[in-house]
Amino acid sequence: MAPDEPLTRRTAERYGCLWANSRGPVPASYHYEKVRALLPSDPLHGLVLDAGCGDGIDTARMAAADSCRVVGVDLTEEGVRRTAQRTAGRRNVMVIRGDLERLPLQDGRFDFVYSYGVLHHLPHPAEGFRELVRVLRPGGWLAVYVYEDFAARAPAERALLRLVNGLRRVTVAMPPRALFGLCRLASPFVFAGLTVPARVLGRWQATQGLSERIPYRQGRSPMDLTGDLYDRFAAPLEHRYDRATVEQWFRQAGLTQVATAPLRGWVGWGVKPGQA
Ligand SMILES: C[S@@+](CC[C@H](N)C(=O)[O-])C[C@H]1O[C@@H](n2cnc3c(N)ncnc32)[C@H](O)[C@@H]1O
Repeated sequence: MAPDEPLTRRTAERYGCLWANSRGPVPASYHYEKVRALLPSDPLHGLVLDAGCGDGIDTARMAAADSCRVVGVDLTEEGVRRTAQRTAGRRNVMVIRGDLERLPLQDGRFDFVYSYGVLHHLPHPAEGFRELVRVLRPGGWLAVYVYEDFAARAPAERALLRLVNGLRRVTVAMPPRALFGLCRLASPFVFAGLTVPARVLGRWQATQGLSERIPYRQGRSPMDLTGDLYDRFAAPLEHRYDRATVEQWFRQAGLTQVATAPLRGWVGWGVKPGQA
């Protein structure tokens, strides 16, 4: 199903370029593991949805648990293809193309709905959130991650965000392939300027907190940040939230056991009430 909203089409084009070009080793621990560490119980049983699965690293991770069947949905053909390749040979995975604002899925089917880093790129994030709740079965868990608004951050961090947002005005208008090339060129510099200092500061307990505040500290090699930089500078839409708003989404949707946690952004989770 191709997206019909112009902004969604642009998002698809730009992420399509990312998934067509980004290659590299799979990290030892990815987004799902970080979210799982926050959840009160193992959510991997029954039918699981990875909504906005990208190139499928989390989909593959979740599908490694034979206790569940996983459906990956992404807006881009390239993301769907990469996820299908990554999970080839696993019989408990299905990958489909779809728009999170109108998921081509039945009501109340999924035991666990997971969406990492996607809602904030939608034209109408609240609509996407409602869709995630719609496809969740009563008694199932929903977990999402969205960007934070930096309102509670130090002035220097807020200034950095303003600078990045200013740069984004230029980069979101660039042709995707040119921007990808630029991110490739910038990656070693960001690695040297941010990742390496963050690693050094991370060695001592006294400076560990500071290290954790440094962006792009996750880089594993000089070229490794290409995809992360592109993700940050290519997406046409980027909404940002405070913690209270994320909690409100869950509560207004009637979910229970609602909680949120900071993870350089907000992870929120909750349970859909009612009998399975
Ligand atoms: C930052 S990536 C995150 C990918 C993956 N969840 C991960 O954590 O690696 C955002 C993903 O959301 C997808 N996306 C953006 N808008 C979407 C929409 N309206 N419907 C479905 N997927 C969407 C993009 O194609 C992209 O793959």
